[in-house]
Amino acid sequence: MRSGIRRQKEYTDFLKSVPKLKDLPEEILNQVADNLDECHYTNGEYIIRQGARGDTFYIIAKGQVKVTKKDKKTSEEAVLRTLQKGDFFGERALQNEEVRTANIVADNKDGVDCLCLDRDSYTQLISSLGEVSLRQYEDEKKDRLADIPEDILSL
Ligand code: CMP
Repeated sequence: MRSGIRRQKEYTDFLKSVPKLKDLPEEILNQVADNLDECHYTNGEYIIRQGARGDTFYIIAKGQVKVTKKDKKTSEEAVLRTLQKGDFFGERALQNEEVRTANIVADNKDGVDCLCLDRDSYTQLISSLGEVSLRQYEDEKKDRLADIPEDILSL
């Protein structure tokens, strides 16, 4: 088997293990696999910086990353959660946000490997999956509730 074909099969098998992607039609999974690049990051490296523009969608293939965000009041960087192998990130700036909404920091002593997809491929192949493109995060639900006055919440 030629190595390109073997790699495409490896990527397709891996994509089938990602819960939110596995139900994409085989043909689309193959096209995603064809367009993936491998990216490597060292421990502590910022893969994404909050506020920057971005054109890449990432799926973690090895290691884990921390999602951090600057607190609006204190400007301190707080860790929101960690993401592991099979998790994805970077969908927001490709959807409707102009800039990256959080930092993503490599958090593994042997480094982090990601499979990366550019904006055009993401838009064509993945953005129609609402589970990916419209994803809401738990802490944001809490943030939105915190913005609603208590007397309205108790109605
Ligand atoms: P994007 O804004 O493109 O870049 C930063 C990424 O961090 C974002 O896409 C999401 O994939 C991810 N992200 C943003 N906010 C959260 C959150 N509250 N919890 C987990 N991941 C998040």
